[in-house]
Amino acid sequence: MDHSRVPVLEALQEFRRRGDVAYGPPGHKQGRGADPRVAEIVGMDVFRSDVLSLNGLDDRRQSQGVLQQAEELMADAVGAEHAFFSTCGSSLSVKTAMCSVAGPGEKLLLSRNAHKAVISAVIINGVEPVWVHPKFDTERHIAHPPEPDDVRARLREHPDAKGMLLITPTDWGTCADIRGVADACHASDVPLIVDEAWGAHLPFHPGLPTWGMDADADLVVTSVHKMGGAIEQSSVFHLQHDRISPDVLKQREDLLGTTSASSLVYATLDGWRRQMVEQGHGLLDTALHRAERIRARLRELPGLRVMGGEIIEEGLAAEFDPLKIVVDVRELGISGMQAAEWLRAHCHIDVGGSDTCRISASITHADDETEKLLLESVRTLVERADTIERQPPVHLPEPHVLELEQAVLPRDAFFGPAEQVPAERAVSPPR
Ligand SMILES: Cc1ncc(COP(=O)(O)O)c(C=O)c1O
Repeated sequence: MDHSRVPVLEALQEFRRRGDVAYGPPGHKQGRGADPRVAEIVGMDVFRSDVLSLNGLDDRRQSQGVLQQAEELMADAVGAEHAFFSTCGSSLSVKTAMCSVAGPGEKLLLSRNAHKAVISAVIINGVEPVWVHPKFDTERHIAHPPEPDDVRARLREHPDAKGMLLITPTDWGTCADIRGVADACHASDVPLIVDEAWGAHLPFHPGLPTWGMDADADLVVTSVHKMGGAIEQSSVFHLQHDRISPDVLKQREDLLGTTSASSLVYATLDGWRRQMVEQGHGLLDTALHRAERIRARLRELPGLRVMGGEIIEEGLAAEFDPLKIVVDVRELGISGMQAAEWLRAHCHIDVGGSDTCRISASITHADDETEKLLLESVRTLVERADTIERQPPVHLPEPHVLELEQAVLPRDAFFGPAEQVPAERAVSPPR
């Protein structure tokens, strides 16, 4: 296929060149009515390129196939049979994917270290979750994805389960053995959905962890705005094999999705695919070297524990995304959240994630002198850590305490009678 083509961007350019006037949404009419004080900050081009797909980028019947062509190019670029764009983030795509595999009252295997979108989907869809417990890392206090044997065991216990949803990479960059899990699912003739929200970049460099489509997953959901280059809320479904019908997926997407999809999302998804096909290998190569350099420099600083390949050697994860810089700061006597807040207040940098133990920064194809800034900021944090207020130690629960009994369906609990109580009166888990 001709990957130099960008059907959505081309249609947008053509729309702007023709100067079409729309007597439908958006009401700002490509910026004619935009308040200049808003345009001054967000840029007038945001309004000029904010066009509806129907009666805008394409006609009422989508007869030019603008979106379809862009989706076909995306599928070709990442080795999927079908790709569909979504403008509501993976939060909605995950719900759609789950809804395509299991309906109300049906069972679905779910990694317990799920994003809130998965929990919301369980409540909305009314599926019966069969939790597959992740691999708890008691020393680091994080959860890594479950292993194929865990999935096989749950499938044996629940032969009526309709499929499995696996989350990989985790927010901390640790990855599952997707192929092993896919084999386990396929041996029971059920599909594997992979929430690869953090993995949009994976198809474009062999030095990155395995991409779900290459590892035989049936349906993979990505957030291209996370590790890729499209704007916020850009999500893509990638589909292969015949365990999930593209028509069913489209229908469920239509059920949940917006009727006013953002052309800015579509256009930037389209452009990202061209950029990655044409330059992705080189850009990601640079990013990988940058991340390695950052990790090596950070390891020289006292009081930091930088996560890396040892996670695989210790048998805790099958792979690790080297573009995630994950740093345990506990030895500095502060929490990850305190470190993140200090870095924002004093160095004007925002790390992507933080918890009680660590901070995490994502390196992408976009980084440049930001490498130096990150290193200098973390070095300053280490030097000034003793000026940060000491807080009482947090007693994190043992992993088994987190493996709660599911007394009722999450949907019934959510919609059932509830009493709001202050945190101190809430039942505390046994230690
Ligand atoms: C594993 C995982 N799945 C899904 C989502 C939701 O993605 P989005 O922010 O694109 O809605 C996230 C967001 O952080 C995530 O970490």
